[in-house]
Amino acid sequence: MTEPKILISEEDIRRKVDELAAQISADYEGKGEVTLIAVLKGAFIFLADLSRRLTIPRDVEFMALSSYGKAGATSGAVRVVMDLRDSIEGKHVLVVEDIVDTGKTLQYLLDLLQTREPASLKTCALVRKKDRHEVDVKIDYLGFDIPNVWVVGYGLDYAEHHRTLPYIGVVEPRESRG
Ligand code: PRP
Repeated sequence: MTEPKILISEEDIRRKVDELAAQISADYEGKGEVTLIAVLKGAFIFLADLSRRLTIPRDVEFMALSSYGKAGATSGAVRVVMDLRDSIEGKHVLVVEDIVDTGKTLQYLLDLLQTREPASLKTCALVRKKDRHEVDVKIDYLGFDIPNVWVVGYGLDYAEHHRTLPYIGVVEPRESRG
């Protein structure tokens, strides 16, 4: 299998996560605890790094979602595979995503979480494929805009390969099979 080509280096990710954590910490200062909700699987590494660099009280929670038609050909319907354990009513919620592609997953999640009456609901995404977005979903804290390429590493996969690379790299999908 060909090694991914580096798109965003480990150092650039580290610097960006520091910046995001500082901005989020400043914005939530004095508001009490923020509940970070990571969308599995991809966001697990970003959440781990981001959450440890915040200087405000925080709690981490996880959800797993599954989307149909990822290739873009079908409805983009999303369903909850694993839900939160506890209520988020009255809590300050920050959704943490690794990547926003069409935006459908994040928009679905925001619509769902909003019905549960959090005190506030914001979003943080490490990367966004701006050219691909079909839904104008609100990203309050964004790491990087990237072109429409297949990215792996730092939580992102291609058919479960490359998730644990320390950088974000680009693969040609056919190179990664097997
Ligand atoms: C990725 C990513 C987002 C979603 C974004 O998850 O983590 O949740 O796709 O795509 P969208 O903006 O087009 O909706 P994926 O379905 O690849 O699952 P994984 O995180 O378990 O790899």
